[in-house]
Amino acid sequence: MSSVQEMKALLTPKSIAIIGASSKDNAIGNIVVKNLIESHFEGAIYPINPKAPEIRGIKAYPSILDVPGEVDMAVFCVPAKAVLGAAEECAKKHVKGYVIITSGFSEIGHEGAEVEKKIVEVAHSGGGRVMGPNIVGVLLNGSKANASFAPCLPLDGKTALISQSGALLISLDMNTFVRHLGASSMISLGNMSDVDFADCINFYAEDDKTNCIGLYIEGLKNGRAFIEAGRKAGKPIVALKSGVSAHGAAAAASHTGSLAGSVKVYDAAFKQAHVIRARDLDELLDCSQALALQPVMKGENICVVTNGGGIGVLSSDSAEAYGVPLKTAPADLQVEFKKCMPDFGSAKNPVDITGGAGLKGYEDAIAVALKSDWVNGLAVLYCETANTEPDEIAEGILAAVKNNGTNGKPIVTCFVGGFKCQAAGKKLIEAGIPFYENPDKAMRALSALRQAALFQEEGIADDYVPAKDVDQAAARAVIAAARADGRSVLTEPEAKKVFAAYGLPVGKALVAKTEDEAVKMAAEIGYPLVMKIVSPQIIHKSDAGGVKVNIKDEAGVRAAWKTIMDNAKAFIAKKDIKDAAIHGILLQSMAPLGKEVIVGSVNDPQFGPTVMFGMGGIFVEVLKDVTFRVAPFSQKTAMGMLPEIKSYKILQGTRGEKRLDQERLSEIISRISQLVSELSDEIAETDANPIMLYPEGEGLAVVDARIILKKK
Ligand code: COA
Repeated sequence: MSSVQEMKALLTPKSIAIIGASSKDNAIGNIVVKNLIESHFEGAIYPINPKAPEIRGIKAYPSILDVPGEVDMAVFCVPAKAVLGAAEECAKKHVKGYVIITSGFSEIGHEGAEVEKKIVEVAHSGGGRVMGPNIVGVLLNGSKANASFAPCLPLDGKTALISQSGALLISLDMNTFVRHLGASSMISLGNMSDVDFADCINFYAEDDKTNCIGLYIEGLKNGRAFIEAGRKAGKPIVALKSGVSAHGAAAAASHTGSLAGSVKVYDAAFKQAHVIRARDLDELLDCSQALALQPVMKGENICVVTNGGGIGVLSSDSAEAYGVPLKTAPADLQVEFKKCMPDFGSAKNPVDITGGAGLKGYEDAIAVALKSDWVNGLAVLYCETANTEPDEIAEGILAAVKNNGTNGKPIVTCFVGGFKCQAAGKKLIEAGIPFYENPDKAMRALSALRQAALFQEEGIADDYVPAKDVDQAAARAVIAAARADGRSVLTEPEAKKVFAAYGLPVGKALVAKTEDEAVKMAAEIGYPLVMKIVSPQIIHKSDAGGVKVNIKDEAGVRAAWKTIMDNAKAFIAKKDIKDAAIHGILLQSMAPLGKEVIVGSVNDPQFGPTVMFGMGGIFVEVLKDVTFRVAPFSQKTAMGMLPEIKSYKILQGTRGEKRLDQERLSEIISRISQLVSELSDEIAETDANPIMLYPEGEGLAVVDARIILKKK
């Protein structure tokens, strides 16, 4: 069975057993039975209890093996120590879904984790899948199954909400009635011993009752499966990620490693997974509302119709902040809008029909906007005034939409005012028009609809095709030699050989073992030169005084040799490094000055090899102006990284300078992504830093290289 078929068996149950159905009124096992009855579950309910003959009027069985018919889902409400035994019985019964509410497994430590693993093995042996443990259960509106201890099924709707936190899910459950924002299902994932976000995305992508998938994520177990599932879902996904502090950065040995806080990696992974990122719970639900109710926004022109100048300006500020700035309406459209407002109104966009305009003004302006080819998305803003009734305005919006059609454009509304506005909002949402209580939320919703359209345009494939002119064997040979030498840090010449094997321009470099050899090599390479210490124990060469630049002649080579060697020995002595090895001094031609950029990689615990790009020098060290992508990826994806850094203007050429060679740079970033994914069994971190980037057509030069291997 495919993952989707297994999930279908689990999430569209025809029969549910409650293992540990309790005869005590307030016990969780009793509440689950009550919930299934009260949600009008239409399939068979089988309470399982060693002693009780019936629970809440339904015949109970001492063991699941005594149940006469098939059982699709078993909800576990027995204490942790009884779960494995009960799971073994479920496996014999070929139960399809194990919904394990019980706590006390991997979240409490190693011993619990071991039992959890065994439960999954047992479930798989009988052809079942495990949800949880440590969850509130699942709430499935399609099956009318409240198989949880949440109070009731959520308001029915078109969003599947999937949450790692059970308590959060319960609170969102009741909140659906306050927001009038329904859910097709609510799934609690808990410890994710088996079923995870990717499984749920795969299932809900194919569920015709679900238009949008909303996620609350604490951590992912398989980041790559998540990216793949999100990308191929073809349905809007919005996610709130908690715990975004810069974990794990402190221990990183490379420059890139120290900048790879999980928040930036998640940002990158969400983009690659076509997941819209919400910053808080409100945003998660507000965006879900728009994505579930409205079509995506196929162009970038938002039209705002408002009766208040203030909320109009606020919407304009927010639209810009969310990356969908308002534009002035074309002249012919302005002429049409002018007909819907008094002389002192503004037709430019925001279209301010003014406080005096009333219902008619709204209806006319909305009709103009909906018919216009220029408008791609519409926001109707309203301030409660004495000469209008919120309910009438809501009715007017609905009538305008009904009479004119939306021509595939999304429409959102925002009413600022009192209780009457709230009541009008309920009416709008029930009719499928998103409603918000401030203009910022309305603009965020439209920006999410725009983002969803851009993801759709991007399509499923990343169009990554690995470069063929690479020599993986040569790269592996360099790594094997370093390993044979007992090292997990490559020297600069070794790292450059690995980079060169993947087509990176590292320039000519030779390692001299003696001063005289250095003089000979210098003549071969040509001046000006750079000389650098080669020692596995000296990673930060400049800090140790191990680098001399702009050496112009033989005397310079001899002087540099002496200084570098003296500095390196002093450094080793000062740091008291045992068994330090000096392999010699590297000589390389000095790359002409360019704009410094950095490309590097880390091995993220959740996503694997992940590549970073940023401008070098203070941009990376002080401003941390960098961006990431999970490897491997195409040159086109790499091109998309460049505008994400704040200092992008430098790459475009500022103050009369030429545009820099972004094509070659993006090719190199993609090649590094290929390198670190093909050698992901060996490489932990890399830095190509600095890279000298030259004007368009002139390429770049990798000046320094660092590769840190995985500990084996
Ligand atoms: N098969 C069937 N029933 C069994 C059983 C078995 N192997 N072993 C025990 N039972 C029955 C008990 O007899 C009892 O029924 P009774 O009350 O009629 O005697 C019922 O199962 C429950 O057992 P009990 O020992 O009373 O447990 P409990 O109700 O106090 O707690 C849990 C059980 C699952 C609720 C509890 O262990 C737990 O994990 N709570 C946390 C849940 C949670 O917060 N989840 C995460 C949410 S985010």
